[in-house]
Amino acid sequence: MLKAIDVRKAMQRPRLKGAGFQKIREMIADKGARTPFLVLHRSMVRENLAKLSRALPGVAIHYAVKSNNHRAILEEVTAAGYSFDIASYNELVQSAEAGGDVEGFIHSHPIKSPDEIENAVNSGVSLFVVDNPDEIGKFAAYADKVRLLIRFKVRNSSAVVNLSYKFGCEPANVLLLADRIRILGIKYHGLTFHVGSQCTDSEVYTDAIETASRLIDKLKGKDFDTRLLDIGGGFPVAYTDKIPSIYEFCRPIRRALKEKINPDIAIACEPGRFISASAVTLVASVIGASIRSRRPWYFLDDGLYGSFSGRLYDHCLYQVYTNRNTTWKRSVLAGPTCDSFDVIYNNVLLPPLKIGDILLFPSMGAYCSVSASTFNSLRKAEYIVID
Ligand SMILES: Cc1ncc(COP(=O)(O)O)c(C=O)c1O
Repeated sequence: MLKAIDVRKAMQRPRLKGAGFQKIREMIADKGARTPFLVLHRSMVRENLAKLSRALPGVAIHYAVKSNNHRAILEEVTAAGYSFDIASYNELVQSAEAGGDVEGFIHSHPIKSPDEIENAVNSGVSLFVVDNPDEIGKFAAYADKVRLLIRFKVRNSSAVVNLSYKFGCEPANVLLLADRIRILGIKYHGLTFHVGSQCTDSEVYTDAIETASRLIDKLKGKDFDTRLLDIGGGFPVAYTDKIPSIYEFCRPIRRALKEKINPDIAIACEPGRFISASAVTLVASVIGASIRSRRPWYFLDDGLYGSFSGRLYDHCLYQVYTNRNTTWKRSVLAGPTCDSFDVIYNNVLLPPLKIGDILLFPSMGAYCSVSASTFNSLRKAEYIVID
């Protein structure tokens, strides 16, 4: 069931920096911008990187390109001196073109085609993630060129997107996998986990860090030297729910890393959503209106097959901003395609809207445009990059 969003509450929240309606009107007038479009604030990318870096001092940030591969975001990441977590060769090329140093990248996808591995190794990537014996076998031909991180599963009690269902070995199997790596003459480099995306409970991280600490001791007993612990992504963003500041959220993580992990072991993280989500605002227009079963329906020029693909794949509720504030009615907000499934919100409080009205949807930078399609041959929302 979709949750009703009280747009009045949204209106009481402070306006987004630089993304108020006046600024949007100017963009439409000055730049001839046609909705739907996405406003990308470079300064927000910088701010998010700086905030996470303060919240996790000493932890190397590898931006997860999959959340949003827009060139401007990748450039901000390299300009700030951080590196990348890539899931494919195309992401490797995009990150390198934005100035990234390939040798520092982590290829974090636990399952890769042989071609994918060959291309990445030939391009200079040496750090890869594995979670099963067959995957380790794929690296036998590159034994002298690669180092492997073993990904283990974590419990997924609070993350919105479960990433331990499909990936990660049982912690009890880590030693067996390390043995296999050694038998094939490959370098074991360390451990990694992912708590799941939009994880709102930092205890999931601290539990995983404790598991990692126990595993590191066991591995040491068998002469496996852990050089890196990669604590993945998952850091949460305030969409419609209240979320503590990232500094507060990471307090227990900082403590666990300090208390449980030997300072000689390097620590990395792979944030996607936290860096990209709040940097992008979607601007969409009402293109149709109707009353169905006494309920107002409004049709937008963007929908589930476009930028709102995150409603499906990312299970996300995006806040709605409108500049009309008369009476509020339970309404339906639908997308532009011919499919009845293309409904963004079935039950949302909205003021009466007119065709041509503009709605803003902040924090749509992660897992939205990257999974959007052009179904019905409709164009995808284009980006306008500012500051
Ligand atoms: C291996 C890996 N690392 C990092 C990320 C980024 O996670 P998030 O956007 O939650 O920070 C993902 C997301 O799917 C992932 O699969």
